[in-house]
Amino acid sequence: MKKPLKVLLLFSSPYNKPRGYDYQEEFADPENMYTENDVFQALMANGFSVSILGLHNTVAPLFEEIQENRPDVIFNLVEVFDDRSHLEKNMAAFLEMLGIPYTGATSDDIFICNNKGLCKKILKFHKIKTPWFYTFYRNRRVWLPKRLKLPTIVKPLCEEASRGISQASIVDNEEAFLERVRFIHQNMDMDAIAEEYIEGRELYVSVMGQKKLIVLPAREMKFGELAEDARVATYKAKWDEKYREKWGIKSVFAGKLANGVEEEIADVCKRAYRALNISSYLRFDIRITPDGKVYIIEPNANPCIAKIDEVAQSAMKMGISYEQLIKKIVMLALTKNT
Ligand SMILES: Nc1ncnc2c1ncn2[C@@H]1O[C@H](COP(=O)(O)OP(=O)(O)O)[C@@H](O)[C@H]1O
Ligand SMILES: [Mg+2]
Repeated sequence: MKKPLKVLLLFSSPYNKPRGYDYQEEFADPENMYTENDVFQALMANGFSVSILGLHNTVAPLFEEIQENRPDVIFNLVEVFDDRSHLEKNMAAFLEMLGIPYTGATSDDIFICNNKGLCKKILKFHKIKTPWFYTFYRNRRVWLPKRLKLPTIVKPLCEEASRGISQASIVDNEEAFLERVRFIHQNMDMDAIAEEYIEGRELYVSVMGQKKLIVLPAREMKFGELAEDARVATYKAKWDEKYREKWGIKSVFAGKLANGVEEEIADVCKRAYRALNISSYLRFDIRITPDGKVYIIEPNANPCIAKIDEVAQSAMKMGISYEQLIKKIVMLALTKNT
């Protein structure tokens, strides 16, 4: 009988647990490590030989694990290291140095996609619509450029999950603009980006594959009762259940789109995926203007992958079960160039 594929499920751990700790208590808690649990169960259901390892602030346990129990492939769920999200790319780079295939985004993908300015420069070069922008680095002059139309949205340059994005991020005058940039520089200790504000419906489109690409059915963020000029997926709109309930904010499958727009979305997302040279899976945040123009707001390398998240929901809608999705992601790792 063929030996089962050895998969190491690697994830960020907020705890300093020893290697060999089984995390079953944390996995079982629906408020805690539910993504890790979903992926773990799906890997098991696929018949892989699965081991697990959480990393907190040292890579030593990974070295030991590789020496004693070298996996065929690593399922990489590491998003933060030592509570620092910018080290996500370093972790992928480290896996590349170990020479073991791993799932999801390469270090290059994460480096490019997690910088909201850099990925837009590449997209613009390929003539893919994405908001016009200016970057504002810490300890440099901050000014309101004439070419930046108001309202504009001011965000941290390299953050995720809408950290640092609130209603105060949409600014329509110079004073509010300067104040928001200053907030990101001083309170968050991060560089900032100010983008042309794109009004319209907000969709999340996942793409996966290497030679042949699959574009999964779009999800849509419904902003409920939020005022027209406040329709932004802020941190609260994404993560605060009470706030979501109060305003009727929810994520659903995208309803009807105007003629040709669905095809346009698939075309734009495939071109963007190629332009960024991705060969695993990625989720695009996009906006569709009232006249049907498709804008890429940002590419998300290693997007959330729990059963309840957009990628899995979209896959299931297409008839790809969660277990099949996780298997596809593992198989793509085996043929990906790093
Ligand atoms: N240029 C823009 N125009 C309109 N809305 C935007 C723009 N940029 C961001 N947003 C809103 O802010 C949300 C978060 O921004 P995003 O760039 O996706 O950051 P994050 O990486 O934190 O998810 C988006 O989902 C969207 O609702
Ligand atoms: Mg986003």
